[in-house]
Amino acid sequence: MDILLLRLIHIGAGTFWVGSVFTFFLLVQPAAMAVGPEATRFTYQLLHHRRFSAVVLASAAITVVAGIWLLVITSNGLDPDVLLDVSRLGYTVGGVSAILTFAIGALYVYPRTKVVERTLGRLVTEARPPTPDEQGTLARTARESRRAGWLVLMGLAIAVVAMATASYWGVVL
Ligand code: HEM
Repeated sequence: MDILLLRLIHIGAGTFWVGSVFTFFLLVQPAAMAVGPEATRFTYQLLHHRRFSAVVLASAAITVVAGIWLLVITSNGLDPDVLLDVSRLGYTVGGVSAILTFAIGALYVYPRTKVVERTLGRLVTEARPPTPDEQGTLARTARESRRAGWLVLMGLAIAVVAMATASYWGVVL
């Protein structure tokens, strides 16, 4: 594939991934938690009808696949000497950080958003408040995904800083 098209896909999907995760964790989720039960329909609409978590996961997967492809092309097929050379090291560091972050998102955060979606789905269709059991499930998943969310934000921030500055590492270091 033409490297220009690959860069366009990579940077476009990466921008969406990082922007939506930061907006969700720092703005949307705290606002929904502050509003409480009144946010149930909104959160269900976002998760179920708009497929928010699946869309974010897809943008992350596209970023990672296109990034690995770019890395293979620009490092003579993942040659360690090129990957660790200071002129390319920023892309390697950013790439590793983004891949680890993707793994946390896909394997830990995403399944929890599915639990929230299913639980809220029952509340919306049956038009009732949560049972103590469901309340416990929602509180636990929110706590767990917020904790993992900070790791995700850090991983993405490292990836963005490394990718954005990579072409200058050779000059500065
Ligand atoms: C948070 C996720 C990511 C974001 C926001 C992101 C962003 C970017 C940006 C803005 C550039 C252009 C930098 C420049 O031209 O100097 C870039 C280039 C690049 N990215 Fe990423 N990236 C991400 C993840 C990844 C991953 C997971 C990999 C690979 C494992 C990767 C590999 C690369 C490579 C090799 C280039 C250089 C392409 C070239 O030399 O033409 N990126 N990325």
